[in-house]
Amino acid sequence: MNPDVYQLLERELGAGKVLRDAERLDAYAVDESDLGRFPPDCAVLADSVEEVGLVLRLAQEHRIPVTPRGAGSGMTGGALPVRGGIVLSTERMQRIKEIDEESLLAVVEPGLILGEFQKTVEERGLFYPPDPASLAFCSIGGNVAECAGGPRAFKYGVTREYVLGLDVTLMGGERIRCGRRTAKGVTGYDMVALFVGSEGTFGVTTEITLKLLPLPPAVATLLAVFPDAVSAGRGVSAILRLGTRPRALELLDRASLAHLRGKGSYRFPEGAGAVVMCEVDGEPEAMEAATLRCGQAAEREGAIDVLVARDEQDRRRMWETRRLTSPSLREAHRFKVAEDVVVPRGHIAEMLRRVDGIGARNHIEMATFGHAGDGNLHVNLLGDEDKHEAAVAAHIEAALGELFRETLALGGTLSGEHGIGLAKKKYMSWEQSEALIGLQKRLKRLLDPLDLLNPGKILP
Ligand code: MLT
Ligand code: ZN
Repeated sequence: MNPDVYQLLERELGAGKVLRDAERLDAYAVDESDLGRFPPDCAVLADSVEEVGLVLRLAQEHRIPVTPRGAGSGMTGGALPVRGGIVLSTERMQRIKEIDEESLLAVVEPGLILGEFQKTVEERGLFYPPDPASLAFCSIGGNVAECAGGPRAFKYGVTREYVLGLDVTLMGGERIRCGRRTAKGVTGYDMVALFVGSEGTFGVTTEITLKLLPLPPAVATLLAVFPDAVSAGRGVSAILRLGTRPRALELLDRASLAHLRGKGSYRFPEGAGAVVMCEVDGEPEAMEAATLRCGQAAEREGAIDVLVARDEQDRRRMWETRRLTSPSLREAHRFKVAEDVVVPRGHIAEMLRRVDGIGARNHIEMATFGHAGDGNLHVNLLGDEDKHEAAVAAHIEAALGELFRETLALGGTLSGEHGIGLAKKKYMSWEQSEALIGLQKRLKRLLDPLDLLNPGKILP
């Protein structure tokens, strides 16, 4: 990178906002994907839309790649600066600019930590549903870039459903505002939808207008215990067919539960082959009947036990421990390839059956958990050797190939919430036609003709 540009950035922004020493840049060379280290030439900790604009203008002028970054909690390498250059971090832009209780909306900066935002709105009786497991440390800007989901997406939908408006700076520094503050609006193309989930390849978000809901007055959670994952999958389908709509419908298989033993403050039942976590919300007087209906449906599909969270503390412990699944798997193994395939809801049990077969055929330890009600399964390929060793790499490659082929054969999709990033771009053409990928490449060229903004991601 041209040293004059560093100096220019330092002069304009102040030295404290431009990191150049290798030790400090280390933190910006990785994310949660385990795809390797990609140190940038420098990291800019922008404080404002003007500073974001300056970086994107200078980078365009000097042909320097820029990789936007939120909290670095992404799982597919979206924030890795694979071509070096500048990491543009929004971690310092953490303000809640407005909460409008009457209009049920909030305006926030992208570096705001999701869990902190949720706590603030809940203290006012409001509710922001998207709840990725990383909520304690992921940023809302990152959630927008990846269109994050989470357990409550089952009833309430993913981040896309909550973004009303965006302030985005394009490569080159041009700033646009898109979207609105109203509950409805169809003026022009849906530009907000274009940016949400674009994994930082179309622009850098500097302000987000989010829709809020009133906080549901009551919540109840039950845990149905099954002998194995396939029968738990059938339990999920049975609950899906009920008139009752849970807000979360999650599954954890035997291997996932084993990794959670001794972790967190909730103890999942010993000896369970799989569990289904089912959470309902609404009026307090409706909770008992709703949990009873879901529990009975699970029992009809072979649940051997149904437990209901005793109180709010018990319920919180259950979820806190569930959110430790991914970190526990990572802690226990040298490699963990975490997938997030989705199948149509009618094929959940069948997909779980096929996943068992993939593990057995390829001699790979697997753990499957996740948002089964959405057909969205986190299939994890685990191992204790060095994953870069050729024989292991071939094994993983073969198992992944089978996983994606089976998913697509059932009418599914490669990613439900982690995005494509770097990890899965070579599989894009398995799911999408040449014409569709070509159209997306044309869109990318329109917004970033020199391919400088988060290059090397999504598109093969
Ligand atoms: C989860 O649901 O726990 C997250 O998406 C993390 C993961 O997939 O491993
Ligand atoms: Zn998830």
